[in-house]
Amino acid sequence: MLWLLLLQVWVSCLWLGHGEVVNSFASCPQFFYSNTPPDAAIKPQNPAWICQTLKGERFFATLYDKDRRIPMYSAYKYEPARFSTNHTWTVEPQLIRSNLPKEMQTVQTLERQYNISKAEIMQSQAVNADYEKSGWDRGHLNPNGHHDTPDSRNVTYTLTNIVPMNATLNRKAWRNYEQQTMANKSKDCQTTYVIVGAVPGNSSLPNGRVNVPSHIWSGACCKTKNNTMSAWAAIARNDQNQVDELTLGQLEKRLAKLYGMKKVPLFHSSCP
Ligand SMILES: *[C@@H]1O[C@H](CO)[C@@H](O)[C@H](O)[C@H]1NC(C)=O
Ligand SMILES: *[C@@H]1O[C@H](CO)[C@@H](O)[C@H](O)[C@H]1NC(C)=O
Ligand SMILES: *[C@@H]1O[C@H](CO)[C@@H](O)[C@H](O)[C@H]1NC(C)=O
Ligand SMILES: *[C@@H]1O[C@H](CO)[C@@H](O)[C@H](O)[C@H]1NC(C)=O
Ligand SMILES: *[C@@H]1O[C@H](CO)[C@@H](O)[C@H](O)[C@H]1NC(C)=O
Ligand SMILES: *[C@@H]1O[C@H](CO)[C@@H](O)[C@H](O)[C@H]1NC(C)=O
Ligand SMILES: *[C@@H]1O[C@H](CO)[C@@H](O)[C@H](O)[C@H]1NC(C)=O
Repeated sequence: MLWLLLLQVWVSCLWLGHGEVVNSFASCPQFFYSNTPPDAAIKPQNPAWICQTLKGERFFATLYDKDRRIPMYSAYKYEPARFSTNHTWTVEPQLIRSNLPKEMQTVQTLERQYNISKAEIMQSQAVNADYEKSGWDRGHLNPNGHHDTPDSRNVTYTLTNIVPMNATLNRKAWRNYEQQTMANKSKDCQTTYVIVGAVPGNSSLPNGRVNVPSHIWSGACCKTKNNTMSAWAAIARNDQNQVDELTLGQLEKRLAKLYGMKKVPLFHSSCP
């Protein structure tokens, strides 16, 4: 009995030590269709797997590139709603040190409560100052409008979910895709899994710290109300106001070219 008890204590210690920034998505696979993240095809040199956490709850998953200081992709379940909420811009403490809190925090909280300097924070990730007056929008990969509670919307305002996006694209064509096209395509869906990503580009924000992606893309995999599967996708160049709709297979082929890989499978193979 004592052994069992000790074992239990030991296991729960391991569990508690399990932070938000992890070595794989093993602790938040539920945001991927069939619990299957894209394989290593899109992995950057200096990656961080983030299970995005707020108030002890996990909301979505992000593969982050600590060198370029942008996400490679965010994965989430599509649960859209239309209402306005307040939000707060945050950063990811565990990109700084693994013993920091596993919940996203504001820069101010990290400075005041944890005595961490802005310079330390900025080493591994982007901050609002990188974007201010840069001429580029803070473009969400996982957009707040695809979620239906105040917390699940607030959580998308972590800068680890943000890339520099062409302001016109972000506010017009891409927003139209997010709001109109996604709603149209998912009409018959029971559950829709989405992965939105960014292809790293050859330039940076004016201060040289944050990569400006060349393309933004989105793939969706839907389980219909009839329990059949459907899928769709889109891609946009980050220098014009145009979104190209295509099949998931076509997107995967485009991405293979753009990333210089043989194959870039985004979802479990049972997604058409
Ligand atoms: C947002 O915050 C402002 C100021 O704190 C408050 O007046 C407003 O009611 C809040 N809105 C929502 C939707 O919570
Ligand atoms: C959003 O989350 C952050 C981080 O926990 C928190 O500081 C902030 O108060 C939240 N904002 C709203 C409007 O709930
Ligand atoms: C905060 O960090 C600085 C630099 O690391 C250190 O010199 C200072 O003593 C720390 N202050 C507190 C209150 O821990
Ligand atoms: C969505 O569907 C509505 C009506 O079914 C149509 O009027 C609208 O043009 C569609 N929007 C897009 C972006 O496909
Ligand atoms: C970035 O540079 C590489 C190598 O010069 C080139 O092959 C690629 O087309 C460039 N990408 C963009 C989006 O300009
Ligand atoms: C679902 O099944 C109903 C009844 O069999 C059919 O009318 C409808 O077209 C199907 N919808 C899809 C998306 O397959
Ligand atoms: C952003 O897109 C607009 C609209 O297509 C275009 O005119 C502008 O040159 C783009 N800006 C950048 C920096 O690529």
